[in-house]
Amino acid sequence: MTTSPADRATELRQLLHRYAHEYYVLDTPTVPDAEYDRLYRELEAIEVAHPELKTPDSPTLRVGGAILPQFEPVTHAVPMLSIRTETDTTADGALAFDASVRRELGLAESDPPVNYAAELKFDGLAINLRYENGVLVQAATRGDGATGEDVTQNIRTIRQIPLRLDSVGAVPGILEVRGEVYMRRDDFEKLNARQRERGDKTFVNPRNTAAGAVRQLDPAMAAERPLSFFAYGLGEVVGWDDMPLTHSGLLDALAGFGFPVCVERVVAQGGDGLVAFHHQIGAKRDTLPFDIDGVVYKVDSLNLQRELGFRTREPRWAVAHKYPAQEALTTVEAINVQVGRTGAITPVARLAPVFVGGVTVTNATLHNEDEVRRKDVRVGDTVIVRRAGDVIPEVVGVVLERRPMEDVPGGDLFNPVQQPKYTPFELPKTCPVCGSHVVREEGEAIARCSGGLFCSAQRKEAIRHFAGRRMMDIEGLGERYIDNLVELDYVHGIADLYKLTLEDFLEMKRRGDERDGITPETVLAGKVTTKWAENLLAGIDASKKPLLARFMFALGIRHVGESTAKTLSDWLGSVAVIRRTPEALLRVLPDIGGAVAESIADFFDEPKNQQALDALLAAGVVPQDEHAPSAKLRDKLDIATLYAALGVPKLTETRSRQLAEAVPSLAALAAIDSASAIGLPADVAESLLGWLDQPGHREHLLTLDALRTELLAAMPAQSAAEGILAGKTLVLTGTLPTLSRDDATAMIEAAGGKVSGSVSKKTHYVVAGEAAGSKLAKAEELGIPVLDEDGLRALLG
Ligand code: IVH
Repeated sequence: MTTSPADRATELRQLLHRYAHEYYVLDTPTVPDAEYDRLYRELEAIEVAHPELKTPDSPTLRVGGAILPQFEPVTHAVPMLSIRTETDTTADGALAFDASVRRELGLAESDPPVNYAAELKFDGLAINLRYENGVLVQAATRGDGATGEDVTQNIRTIRQIPLRLDSVGAVPGILEVRGEVYMRRDDFEKLNARQRERGDKTFVNPRNTAAGAVRQLDPAMAAERPLSFFAYGLGEVVGWDDMPLTHSGLLDALAGFGFPVCVERVVAQGGDGLVAFHHQIGAKRDTLPFDIDGVVYKVDSLNLQRELGFRTREPRWAVAHKYPAQEALTTVEAINVQVGRTGAITPVARLAPVFVGGVTVTNATLHNEDEVRRKDVRVGDTVIVRRAGDVIPEVVGVVLERRPMEDVPGGDLFNPVQQPKYTPFELPKTCPVCGSHVVREEGEAIARCSGGLFCSAQRKEAIRHFAGRRMMDIEGLGERYIDNLVELDYVHGIADLYKLTLEDFLEMKRRGDERDGITPETVLAGKVTTKWAENLLAGIDASKKPLLARFMFALGIRHVGESTAKTLSDWLGSVAVIRRTPEALLRVLPDIGGAVAESIADFFDEPKNQQALDALLAAGVVPQDEHAPSAKLRDKLDIATLYAALGVPKLTETRSRQLAEAVPSLAALAAIDSASAIGLPADVAESLLGWLDQPGHREHLLTLDALRTELLAAMPAQSAAEGILAGKTLVLTGTLPTLSRDDATAMIEAAGGKVSGSVSKKTHYVVAGEAAGSKLAKAEELGIPVLDEDGLRALLG
């Protein structure tokens, strides 16, 4: 039996609808993209052949339609109101709302707390989606609340918005869903990166970009802007039989119909519950994937909402509660440049102090030369600064109308000719710290000081990085000490830190104070304190046994962050191996791409870096967790995999596998000199021979071959290598005598174990330190073995 085109189209629409929901809303795709595309094209073909089978909920309509001359007005069946904003950003704002609700409802103090639906205030554009018999028929902006604009074509391009309601049972005859169209921060960044690449103007912030996209007359343009949606309320509703009785229940039901509903929501009890929510969201605000404008509290019971009603155009049952602003206006006093660890020259705006995001900001990064030019930030300009969480404050843009201007000759009193008082910013040609040339390589956004470790700014940054908390964690080695150690020539390379004596520190302090004219009275009186220097020496000494991953991170290799350092440590196991692993081998490690592998290999190719490393080892720095290369590496050392990682043009994975059949070892490959032995198509063979004949490549293959053999021999047998704690779950509690929580976790994970946050029957061991609390009690109750730090070390062998 063959299905009719009509049945097949219906079936395809259902499948595509389900896959899109899984992909865009639930974030758990069940079929590969290619499968979705195949079904999509099949549906498209049916609709072209049988235009009468097109339906308003077809996913093929998502691509956008004709360019509109203007938007049609839409009268809202139920006005789209706004909510009152509580401007007191402290906890009192939440308590005041609860108090006013209780007062309006005539509740006594002894009455139970009111339940509230607490949710986020999304920062985008409000939209009303109208579904008739379960099908999206219209999308409109809020407009003035009574009349909005018909933006259906644009809204259809947002894949998170269902074109048809999901439902097992009956759907309401009319259902208007209200919510916010917004843009995720990562999507915004990607969009701006694309704009930059094309040389187009970048967008200012996600909110304006989202609003602009929705109100684009050309739906194809709108479709290019990655928009998202969250449902937060209802408009007109007709024929919803089992409509929930609470706002939180409504949101659950909307999620059930297939709408994205934000998971950051709770039912809070009374004012205290609201305060807790405000606090909790405030703490994670900057880690949310999108911007918010505060939180919203709504009386949860729909009956109580009705009882409370409205005051003019705002409901009495809802309020928006803000957080301190993350953007503010200030003026640029100067533009300087800073020199970073890798010599990167970063322009920085010195600002008139301004309170933003909870702190006073006086500096903001301008990223790089192109960025300053694009934004055209000049001295004297009024700028928007933004500070979100722990990120470095940045200049978002210039308020051009407020740029200082001056008269120039040629005008008169009535028609003055003016020009900006200050010229555009230019990057210095030489490093402001060491005077070396500033170079900017082709295709690079960043200009760098060419002085290397000759440049004291780079030396300081390298030490600061090395001593950092997540690197070698040298306690007490603060910025001022590092500045003096470098400026007064006590430390040239990192390893010099380990040679410092008590006398060095005391002398450095005395000279520094003298230079700055701040020698303390006590010192003049002949009393010298030494405690601080002893502590510092102890801190330096304590850093001599780092975890390998921290050590690798601390070296400051470009592109090597915490996770890459951990990969190097987990897979290769020792400094001795890492320092001589060539690029091709690094490239086969997980998550190490071409650029990162190249940068690591380049670092160790540089004799100065190898010497610095030797000096560190000679000074007694020895990673405490070195081990044999991981047995996982065995698969990666497969010949075909290595061939593909060599970077030979045209030698794809498939070709590499063919090559491995004909030429089964790296050493054999190094000896090849004619195409006949390779067994590959002529163009690939030619490319390979060309590569082999480049200087150093054949030797490189031999080195690689030797290292491969060595690694395979050093590797533990597969089973033992899984790690002594494979399949085991451990819980850490309390403070251990010497290991930090991160270090203990890293050691357990390196041995194949898992660290969990709570004790259950499935926990194998609890590692308890000083001041262990309920977790220890729980472990004892469940009879789970409890270890101290020594016990853990013994377990790890
Ligand atoms: S409820 C009658 N909930 O805030 C209540 N609005 O002033 C109607 N907004 O532009 C609004 N997040 O787009 C509500 N969780 C949320 C919201 C939210 C953002 C926006 C909305 C409107 C403004 C209301």
